[in-house]
Amino acid sequence: MFCESFLQQSNQEMADHAPAVATEAVLKPSADLPDDMPKIRGYDFNQGVDHRALLQSYLTTGFQASSVGLAIQEINNMIEKRLEPLEAEDTNDWKESGPPPYSSGCTIFLGYTSNLISSGVRESIRYLAEHKMVDVIVTTAGGIEEDLIKCLAHTYLGDFSLPGKDLRHRGINRIGNLLVPNANYCKFEDWLMPILDQMVLEQNTEGTRWTPSKMIHRLGKEINNPESVYYWAYKNNIPVFSPALTDGSLGDMIYFHSYKNPGLVLDIVEDIRKLNSQAVFAKRTGMIILGGGLVKHHIANANLMRNGANYSVYVNTGQEFDGSDSGARPDEAVSWGKIRTDAKPVKVYADASIVFPLLVAETFALHADKLIAGKKKE
Ligand SMILES: NC(=O)c1ccc[n+]([C@@H]2O[C@H](COP(=O)([O-])OP(=O)(O)OC[C@H]3O[C@@H](n4cnc5c(N)ncnc54)[C@H](O)[C@@H]3O)[C@@H](O)[C@H]2O)c1
Repeated sequence: MFCESFLQQSNQEMADHAPAVATEAVLKPSADLPDDMPKIRGYDFNQGVDHRALLQSYLTTGFQASSVGLAIQEINNMIEKRLEPLEAEDTNDWKESGPPPYSSGCTIFLGYTSNLISSGVRESIRYLAEHKMVDVIVTTAGGIEEDLIKCLAHTYLGDFSLPGKDLRHRGINRIGNLLVPNANYCKFEDWLMPILDQMVLEQNTEGTRWTPSKMIHRLGKEINNPESVYYWAYKNNIPVFSPALTDGSLGDMIYFHSYKNPGLVLDIVEDIRKLNSQAVFAKRTGMIILGGGLVKHHIANANLMRNGANYSVYVNTGQEFDGSDSGARPDEAVSWGKIRTDAKPVKVYADASIVFPLLVAETFALHADKLIAGKKKE
């Protein structure tokens, strides 16, 4: 009897209104969000095809598009500080020891993995070196040699799926979907060996103490080709650091050369002082790091020496769950003192070959007139 009336009553309730437990769960009242919070809105193609407006719409598109928008803002913050004239206090602070050791309000460190030089990102990087828009470069061995080799022979577009066995038979090497004939490395050997001989001679007769950065400077001079990143780094006196310079074709050549003409020494100690000093004696620093591994850590570690970079942009595909430095978010670097606690660092999770040219377009290239005029005045 009791059961029957209960069922009747609850059936009645279900018919009249939704159960309170469901309405409370679904229609939970919201707290107010701040008025100035960005509202999600993407690009409207009824505006026509306007690539700049499209890129600007990324900030409010969400996901990694918004990270690209934030990275553009962060790099533009570095550029703004770089363009600020040095103040009297800058000179006063350093009066005792001479002029200030920095020439701008923000020293920009650029790091990139080797494959990015193999790819067409090389041309964006060359643009930055050509116009002296960055102050310090860090890359791995392939990031040096692939630039020089491209001045001697081409890299081609292939396919990720080309079978390694077939390529090996044909003497073709694959980097992702890029192809590099082995002949390129033979040309590189012919070009490099006499330079290595000369370096050994200068070491023995003039007492030159070679470091990876001095060697890269010399190779940039010798290649004498405006398509090269390191030609411009040489011309514009941008130091390029690569402490693992032997981990690539350059290492193979140095190895073979050591049998023909032994004795070449590359000192990484002098270079670590030079790199860390660039961070320690900067007014402010900004890090732009494409990819992970050595390049990411080497720049961040130099910035630890000044208690952290002021600005920071990472573009990489690494994830943090494995504890790798490659995948670590900027916040991990904050914990080490490699990025300042008051900084607003950005990580874009993406392939840098898509993202970096877009970042350059909306930052360095956009402000090229001011950046280049500033350099002419120096
Ligand atoms: N062309 C080449 O790649 C090449 C040539 C010769 C020698 N090598 C040697 O191989 C070694 C390893 O190379 P490495 O340390 O330069 O980097 P890597 O290729 O090992 O990459 C390190 C990490 O960077 C990130 N990354 C790489 N490419 C990316 C991209 N396009 N976009 C976003 N993130 C990306 C990934 O998280 C990756 O795990 C080095 O010692 C280098 O000298 C490489």
